[in-house]
Amino acid sequence: MFRSWNPSQPEITDLIVEHDPRTLERVKVRKQDVLDTFSRFSNRTAMRAVEQLPEREGFLDEKELDRHLLKVHWEMQRLAEEFYHGHRVWELLRVVIASIREAGVRETIRIVDVGCGIGYVIRWMAANIPLDKYRIELAGMDLNSTLINEANRLAGAEELPCRFLQGDAFSNGHSGHIFTSTGVIHHFRGPGLPQFLGRHEQPETQAFLHFDFQPWLLAPVGAWLFHYLRMRTAVARHDGVLSAARAHDGRTLREAAREALPEFASGIYGAKIWNTPAPRVFHTLVGLRRPLVEEFRRQLGRRRSRLGELR
Ligand SMILES: C[S@@+](CC[C@H](N)C(=O)[O-])C[C@H]1O[C@@H](n2cnc3c(N)ncnc32)[C@H](O)[C@@H]1O
Repeated sequence: MFRSWNPSQPEITDLIVEHDPRTLERVKVRKQDVLDTFSRFSNRTAMRAVEQLPEREGFLDEKELDRHLLKVHWEMQRLAEEFYHGHRVWELLRVVIASIREAGVRETIRIVDVGCGIGYVIRWMAANIPLDKYRIELAGMDLNSTLINEANRLAGAEELPCRFLQGDAFSNGHSGHIFTSTGVIHHFRGPGLPQFLGRHEQPETQAFLHFDFQPWLLAPVGAWLFHYLRMRTAVARHDGVLSAARAHDGRTLREAAREALPEFASGIYGAKIWNTPAPRVFHTLVGLRRPLVEEFRRQLGRRRSRLGELR
């Protein structure tokens, strides 16, 4: 467990799937390269998980790997269901939407989930929220075509009104009025974090909500126990624990957002359980165009106490 608790190493899923950033084509990954990376961190747990992955002539077998990757994401979806993550996102998103409407925006509000994986959050909203009433459009984007195909398959099976596209969520033609993400932001580290956040500076974009684990004292034991009990694949167990280790604290997120996006007010929502000092498992980096801030505070109502300093 403690070898996995080293935030400077990548997650297994960061290494086993690679895309050409220009064409988005999959790039072959040599298994030994992945093993060498974890060997440098003396992370035997990760090495054992990678050794089990199917290979062909020294390269990870893409088809088999995709099946494995889907299993990992199905496990993550189960976790999101158990944590009522769809409710959590909508509870805050609806307040942002109301604030944007109060500011006079009449057009359809486009919500883009960055790094949507198999699209649980977007599918949950498409299934549970009357999109016409709120005049919102839902899209999920991910660089990974396997995950996007699965998101579209699941949305199609339930005839859900949402779209999933393979690609860079911040690229031309895909801009959202609101960007959201879950479990994505800790993948961006060091100078990569303000760079990622800086990409929200697009003419249409009014707000962003990035949900991720919150680091705290008992997180190592909690994350290990929880993932051991609830996850079945070695990759999901390993990456689940490591992502809790790599989670950014509120201060890092806030400061990176303020540095990268001076035109937005940024802050952390939902760090503590009501007015107690007990931390929540997830916290949210919230960013809003400055003219929306007062209305956002008003629309939060009694939940306002969950909002840290927004500036
Ligand atoms: C941990 S996974 C996401 C998990 C997913 N949100 C969930 O809750 O199941 C991170 C994903 O972010 C995607 N990603 C990272 N940067 C992206 C970008 N700029 N545009 C689209 N997808 C991105 C990666 O392809 C990867 O699949």
